[in-house]
Amino acid sequence: MLKNNKFVDVLHNAHDNGYAIGAFNIFNEQTARGVIAAANKAKTAIILQTSAGTVKRLGAKALGGMINAMKADAPYGLALHLDHCGDEELAKDCILNGWDAVMMDFSHFSMEENIEKTKRVVDFAHEHNVAVEGEVGLVLGVEEDIVSDVERLAEEGETVEYIEKSGVDAIAPAVGTAHGVYKAEPKLNFDLVEKLSKRETSVVIHGGTGLNDEAYRKLVDCGASKINISTAIKYAYAEGVKKSAAELDIPKSPMKADEVIEKCVEEVAYRLITLFRGDK
Ligand code: 13P
Repeated sequence: MLKNNKFVDVLHNAHDNGYAIGAFNIFNEQTARGVIAAANKAKTAIILQTSAGTVKRLGAKALGGMINAMKADAPYGLALHLDHCGDEELAKDCILNGWDAVMMDFSHFSMEENIEKTKRVVDFAHEHNVAVEGEVGLVLGVEEDIVSDVERLAEEGETVEYIEKSGVDAIAPAVGTAHGVYKAEPKLNFDLVEKLSKRETSVVIHGGTGLNDEAYRKLVDCGASKINISTAIKYAYAEGVKKSAAELDIPKSPMKADEVIEKCVEEVAYRLITLFRGDK
């Protein structure tokens, strides 16, 4: 297990204290600032994650530099993570440009290939004190370029084998959640979350948007340490854009528009962060 790595530290601290960290997908300065404001209001650590597409658009150096500079504004702890990446070169670029962790998604390959490809990145990442998250099974839905219209739930035996052979620091097993908007009430495998969370490797839940509050709480109670939220941030961003366009003379005060957008993101993130912490 990596020592002195921000991603590992915030996840282990959350697990030891019976809560989960919200990991929010941000794609520009406003969404990052909105999520950090929410974490500060809740007095808690936070994970900001970037899609591979966001890294490609903004560049690892510029994006990593911007988020790492923002760490000074997040006194309770902030880890920068790369979400769903199937491109080893892009992951290496992030590893060398200040990301605390990367998620390698080779889950659509055979188990043997998933382990082999993930392990190669784990070896490189650990040399640079960067953590790695991996995935077993297939999560339904759309997460930017990652589209899956088939679901394959993870099984305990294969997930343990993957964890042990790849050496990942965090594991995202497909437990019945879906990326994007839910079309039907999901049936979640809480039992697998509970079993896996007894291990040192942190358990991550993908497809966080749209679960009901009871499901979030049960996942946390079963030991999940990280809950990913992307779609809800995109909707909050869209709401902020519409609101600012309706209420403000944007050319006159463009920074006010940014503030409205940040506030909308902050409100959505704050509700979830406090729910995952079990704050009353
Ligand atoms: P949602 O878009 O459903 O919130 O999923 C987020 C996610 O799992 C990112 O990896």
